[in-house]
Amino acid sequence: MKILVTGGAGFIGSNFILYWLKNHPDDFVVNLDKLTYAGNLENLKEVEGNPNYSFFYGDICEGSIVDKAMEEVDVVVHFAAESHVDRSILDPSIFIKTNVLGTQVLLEQALKHKVKRFHHISTDEVFGSLKLEDPSKFNDRTPYNPRSPYSASKAGADHLVRSYFTTYGLPITMTNCADNFGPFQFPEKLISLAITNLLEGKRIPIYGDGLYVRDWLYVEDHCRAIETILKKGKIGETYLIGSTIEEMNNLTVIKKILKYMGKDENYVEFVKDRPGHDRRYAVDWSKIKKEIGWKPMHSFDKTLKQTIEWYTLNEDWWKRIKNGEYKEYYKKQYGEI
Ligand code: NAD
Ligand code: DAU
Repeated sequence: MKILVTGGAGFIGSNFILYWLKNHPDDFVVNLDKLTYAGNLENLKEVEGNPNYSFFYGDICEGSIVDKAMEEVDVVVHFAAESHVDRSILDPSIFIKTNVLGTQVLLEQALKHKVKRFHHISTDEVFGSLKLEDPSKFNDRTPYNPRSPYSASKAGADHLVRSYFTTYGLPITMTNCADNFGPFQFPEKLISLAITNLLEGKRIPIYGDGLYVRDWLYVEDHCRAIETILKKGKIGETYLIGSTIEEMNNLTVIKKILKYMGKDENYVEFVKDRPGHDRRYAVDWSKIKKEIGWKPMHSFDKTLKQTIEWYTLNEDWWKRIKNGEYKEYYKKQYGEI
């Protein structure tokens, strides 16, 4: 089988490619990536020389490039996106271009190339915000209510993907996943930022009161969920992916990181809140478990410790990132912290 992975040089995409080639050594993987600030081919060093892997440099918004990259492809797994909420607040336009228009270009080419499956990676953020005291969770019947330019652009893409199934019969599947963490996560997201700041002896910026809740999933569990859907998922279906952890607010997550890294709470700095900050996400993943047998396998604390160890051992990887364009972004977002 030949798989086209878009955005395979990013955090989840690169974890997925490494996972796929390890578990399906006879398949061929093409990685189409524009190498934005978030794309990093170092993530894929392990498979660089693998004859069943190839890298295709390009933008998903360009039809002629996607056309070439999709030649003889059986399955598309579409990760490529602008993925950071705070950057979408600073500058929404690239989010609309890549996440909405780029997805439409891919859908058009997928139809032309008659791919057997187009799997679209989306997020639980499209459903909006739950209240802290509300026991309910997101499921695949929850109405869309995106509240940031990022989640609005992902919602737009999701609707387009479904419309290509309904209107043109493109064989799609889709997932809306909770917050991921693990190796190769760009150090702008809460967990990777917190760990790398502590390794540099810097404080961790916490937005608002820190009582915001996310449903944290170890990235390998996400990769295995996609694998399960490619094998057993029903065409046209959407599956939600989440974790088994007890609900935890950001402060609790950060306190665990401080404890595992031997630091005290003086390393926490409360900063101005994110505009439109979604209070709580929680995912009901009973459908994917009941229908195709996936459930998360990894414990939060164990994989959090492994993630801290990974960043500790791979200082070169994140230091190179933090020395580049990142410096400017950090200053704009956090000032002098
Ligand atoms: P990331 O920002 O780490 O990586 C995105 C990748 O896409 C990069 O390699 C980048 O170079 C590439 N890319 C961006 N624009 C492109 C373009 N125009 N053409 C080609 N490539 C382009 O993102 P991530 O955290 O790995 O997220 C991957 C996907 O998963 C996204 O669609 C995101 O919305 C979704 N998602 C992420 C999370 C999470 O917690 N990170 C959770 C749920 C869903
Ligand atoms: O829910 C899935 C989504 O998870 C994905 O679709 C997104 O691509 C991914 O970025 C992530 O979005 P979040 O906004 O939930 O992740 P982030 O790591 O940016 O923030 C997690 C929580 O931590 C959120 O409540 C904001 C807070 N936060 C974040 C940063 C970067 C802080 O308090 N301080 C920070 O410096």
